[in-house]
Amino acid sequence: MKAVILAGGEATRLRPLTCNTPKIMVPVLNRPFLEHLVAYLKTHDIVDIVLAVGKLPEQVASYFGDGSKFGVRIAYSTEDFPMGTAGAVKNAEKLVDDPFFVFNGDIFTDIDLSAMMRLHRQRKAIASLALTPVDDPTTYGVVETDSEGRVKRFTEKPSPDKVTTNMINAGIYILEPDILTHITPNTFSMFERDVFPPLLDSGHAIYSYPSSDYWIDMGTPDKYLRLQHDLLRRHPGPEGAEFEGESFAHSSARIEGPVLIGEACSIDRNSMIRGPAILGAGCRVGEDAVIEGAILWLDCEIGRGARLRNCLVASRCHIGEESEVLDGCVLGDDVLIGKANKLSNGIKIWPGKSIEPGAISF
Ligand code: GDD
Ligand code: MG
Repeated sequence: MKAVILAGGEATRLRPLTCNTPKIMVPVLNRPFLEHLVAYLKTHDIVDIVLAVGKLPEQVASYFGDGSKFGVRIAYSTEDFPMGTAGAVKNAEKLVDDPFFVFNGDIFTDIDLSAMMRLHRQRKAIASLALTPVDDPTTYGVVETDSEGRVKRFTEKPSPDKVTTNMINAGIYILEPDILTHITPNTFSMFERDVFPPLLDSGHAIYSYPSSDYWIDMGTPDKYLRLQHDLLRRHPGPEGAEFEGESFAHSSARIEGPVLIGEACSIDRNSMIRGPAILGAGCRVGEDAVIEGAILWLDCEIGRGARLRNCLVASRCHIGEESEVLDGCVLGDDVLIGKANKLSNGIKIWPGKSIEPGAISF
């Protein structure tokens, strides 16, 4: 079976993490997000993958190549301009046949794709959409169905007064190749606004596959953090501390799981790492520093007595002595926080910026 993965969006909501790194390459448990998605597809025998990437991102191609190292076949489909979710699939038309899967490239889930395909074949629908329940449907596509699971209405990002159900489009479709005749080539178009609603209006059969299995769209900082906290609790498990390679941790350092520590890290005396937390390879944690709930990418340096809590820190950042980076803060690559700063409440710092000692304190 084939899958098209949509990965040509701008990932603005995940900035500054995605200033230098495409969303599908953002690390999850110290591996590119796409590696998890590929592994999941493989468990459902989906090994032919079309990556609809917009521009060919060097980082993706050099890491994944033709997919053979990961046991799959990857073809790349590029766009001269952003074609939208449906336009991107139309643009990859020559690479698909039979009913095929389409995935939003930022979904982490355990939804049973094999069962979804079985149901799709029984129902003879032009499309099947996986649905998942969420607390706030207004930032998603809301999907109303009848008692047989046939889709009645699709409303993308409705205002609160238009929300009629908490079941939303999970960003996973099975499409019959026929549906491509309803998409204009070389034109921007979205399944969510330009394809599904008119197909429903004209009476085409679109069915749903509701599921309560784990599902998250990791396209915002809070959900990217939550995804990794959730995965750490599964692996290495609530108490676990996993070292991916040789690292140094001083005997007085305290490490409370679940924690994942990349290779070549050093954790100095009296410091504390309280999970769920992740250090990417080459991170150095200074004396008396405290890291809790935080995700660090590669080669970060955390100064003496610094404190990081529930924040996201991209590669090669330096956090000065006694500085705090707290709840929801996001630092891009190569950010330098001088000593005795206090960042909280979701402050975002763009790649390469330096903050003078003591400049921020709220
Ligand atoms: N190739 C290509 N070209 N891909 C694109 C383009 C494009 O022009 N525009 C967006 N994408 C990709 C993004 O990279 C992402 O993987 C996927 O399409 C969905 O785009 P998002 O920007 O993440 O959409 P969303 O999260 O606001 O909403 C979508 O996902 C929700 C579920 O998470 C919609 O499909 C909603 O209906 C859905 O509920
Ligand atoms: Mg998304």
